[in-house]
Amino acid sequence: MLTDFYFNIVTSLIYEKTGIVFDGKKRYFVENRIKEHMEEIGTTSIKDYIYRLKTDKEVLKEFISKITVNETYFYREYYHLKALSKIIQDEFRSVHLRILSIPCSSGEEPYTIAIILSEVLGIHSRFEVIGVDIDKNALEKAVKAVYGRRSVYKLPSEYLDKYFDKRNDGWVIKPFLKRKVKFYEGNILDKQFLNRLGTFQIVFCKNLLIYFDENSRARAVNNLYDLIQDGGYLFLGHAESLSRASSLFEPVKVEGSIVYKKPAEDEDEW
Ligand SMILES: C[S@@+](CC[C@H](N)C(=O)[O-])C[C@H]1O[C@@H](n2cnc3c(N)ncnc32)[C@H](O)[C@@H]1O
Repeated sequence: MLTDFYFNIVTSLIYEKTGIVFDGKKRYFVENRIKEHMEEIGTTSIKDYIYRLKTDKEVLKEFISKITVNETYFYREYYHLKALSKIIQDEFRSVHLRILSIPCSSGEEPYTIAIILSEVLGIHSRFEVIGVDIDKNALEKAVKAVYGRRSVYKLPSEYLDKYFDKRNDGWVIKPFLKRKVKFYEGNILDKQFLNRLGTFQIVFCKNLLIYFDENSRARAVNNLYDLIQDGGYLFLGHAESLSRASSLFEPVKVEGSIVYKKPAEDEDEW
């Protein structure tokens, strides 16, 4: 359907806006999404479509939402949650804990983190979890906080009873937990936006960097470095290693999994 010329224009635009790389292997996927979106906005001309993508923010956002992979679920990568509990108990028991989940997709990861914090510290302790994602449609689901069986299947049943209400349309997060989690639409490559969030002791950045190239990955990791307080931690997905940017953080093993620690200032000194 698309010539190389137009395929390259669309994928370059997506790369520029999100950091995500779509190569020839993803061509079929990208073409289908474009076709679907062109039908939805009522155009049959690819030139007109590209013009709309470039000039209408809402059209671009909708397209980004179509091509992002939002796969997520509660209690994903349990070994990381064990590491999180251990770090909180050992190092952050008595501070006002701020944790960032970027990207948070439809909210399962930040709510899982809030459940772990409630279990370890108690629901009334001072903590907040911030979820950020570029996809406004995923964030709408996060704010609604209603989840189907596929999202909760890994969650221990005692947590389902404790933190969710069962309704006809699914399991909904109870208000006392929901209050602890805030969501913002934003881009991991947008430094100005990130700076407005303040700083965090712990940042989860899982299952995003695998879609980036080396350049966007380094930009994202540099941005996160600035958000993490000295002595704080970065959690990455199991398939993601820090490669070049790993010089910034120190990989440490906690409860059997690797997490990345930002050295405290004086640890840098000789
Ligand atoms: C596979 S989900 C990961 C969700 C969760 N962290 C997890 O591991 O279960 C990837 C998410 O990255 C988001 N995303 C893609 N590019 C982004 C960017 N530049 N900034 C922020 N979020 C982005 C997508 O919208 C999608 O929801």
